[in-house]
Amino acid sequence: MIGDWIDIGPTTQISPGHARTLPVQGEDGTPREEIAIFHTWEGQFYALVNKCPHKHGPLSQGIVHGTLVTCPLHSWNISLKTGEAQGDDKGCVPTIPLRVDAGRIYLLREALVSARAPEKAA
Ligand code: FES
Repeated sequence: MIGDWIDIGPTTQISPGHARTLPVQGEDGTPREEIAIFHTWEGQFYALVNKCPHKHGPLSQGIVHGTLVTCPLHSWNISLKTGEAQGDDKGCVPTIPLRVDAGRIYLLREALVSARAPEKAA
């Protein structure tokens, strides 16, 4: 199972309340998808595809509060845990399983691949 996780670096690279982005490219050179990795004020880490389910706003540039991020374009609130829009807003962005071990962040390799699938279908 260890081999299925990709080490993307130390937790210290992302300040609390912020996010960094990570480009992902298929082994065959298929189109890139961008992943946003968030560090909450409470010290948790989450990873989502960096596209708001509304109109693809860059969630990595949103405001993090609790386990939500507010999209910078039209202020939808998106759950960092599930990727789902909150309240009356509808939509969901893929999440990427993430774990922290010994101060480093790991993302599940298979999820990075499947995160691109909905884009192709759209
Ligand atoms: S694109 Fe995110 S709220 Fe509109």
